[in-house]
Amino acid sequence: MTATLAPISATAPKPESRLHQLVPRLNRQSVEKHSDAYADIDWDSPELAIGADDPRCGLFAFDPLAQTDWYRAQTPEVQARIGLHRVCAAFKVGMQFENLLQRGLLSYAFRLPNGAPEYRYLHHEIIEESQHSLMFQELVNRSEMPVKGMPLWLRLVAPPSVTVIQRLLPELFFFLVLGGEDPVDHLQRRQLREGTTHPLVETIMKIHVSEEARHIAFARTYLKDLVPTLSGIRRHMLAVRVPLVLWIMAPLMVDPTRELHRHHGVPNAVLRQARTSPDGRQLRKDSVAKLRRLCRELGLITPVARFAWKRVGLWSSDSGEPAPAV
Ligand SMILES: [Fe+2]
Ligand SMILES: [Fe+2]
Repeated sequence: MTATLAPISATAPKPESRLHQLVPRLNRQSVEKHSDAYADIDWDSPELAIGADDPRCGLFAFDPLAQTDWYRAQTPEVQARIGLHRVCAAFKVGMQFENLLQRGLLSYAFRLPNGAPEYRYLHHEIIEESQHSLMFQELVNRSEMPVKGMPLWLRLVAPPSVTVIQRLLPELFFFLVLGGEDPVDHLQRRQLREGTTHPLVETIMKIHVSEEARHIAFARTYLKDLVPTLSGIRRHMLAVRVPLVLWIMAPLMVDPTRELHRHHGVPNAVLRQARTSPDGRQLRKDSVAKLRRLCRELGLITPVARFAWKRVGLWSSDSGEPAPAV
């Protein structure tokens, strides 16, 4: 089977497609359960006030930086500042990622014909991402942490590239979507399950996790419909590109940023130790575990791709397990 450029990217999915069956349910859920960044969070409540010296903001217990002797030796005030900076850096990257994702989804929706069922869902998702971006940026503003988010080269390259990728390589675009959403979802779910944090951060993460489940389901289902229709060469290219883009994206979402050295005096050697420790490596691998299993399910773990996954440090022996159902 050979894929044309526009099958799912610019026309409605076939009636029997998984996406076609999923979209009405997602649309209904988006209406029944959605959040507003300002109506549903009482930002000015004294209990939710947040600042640099708030003792409720330490690093998450599973954060590799929290395992270092250097961090353990710091005063509670320093630990709180580092923890808050880490959360704000992740939220800033999240906001930038969602901005890029929205551009791609808008480009997709722009080309759809009348009556395309996914048009409505795409706009539900774009609206939800706007609410998330409002929440993330509001927390960054109130914390007054000097976070810049993505590195400069990516802030320059990504905005003009994303709509081109969505148009020409929709399969890669939706892997990029999952490359941003899956690691964040993994970290937020783990934190909500395993530890405590500032109540404002927890509120934002709960809202985010519940709405991201729809976005992740849409992207995974889109890929399950599209990838089997791609030509062999295009599937091979995708199989190798996925680990390469995750090599850039997973550390962005998971690793401690160098800003911690500039603004809070965390030694570069300690940041390196956190990134390269067994816990640090495992956290990056775990953050893309669902993507590895999706690639396996889609036949994208070719010998060359497996080599690439290993080279970028994201391969794991769990990669043979089937992916969870969406
Ligand atoms: Fe989001
Ligand atoms: Fe999302």
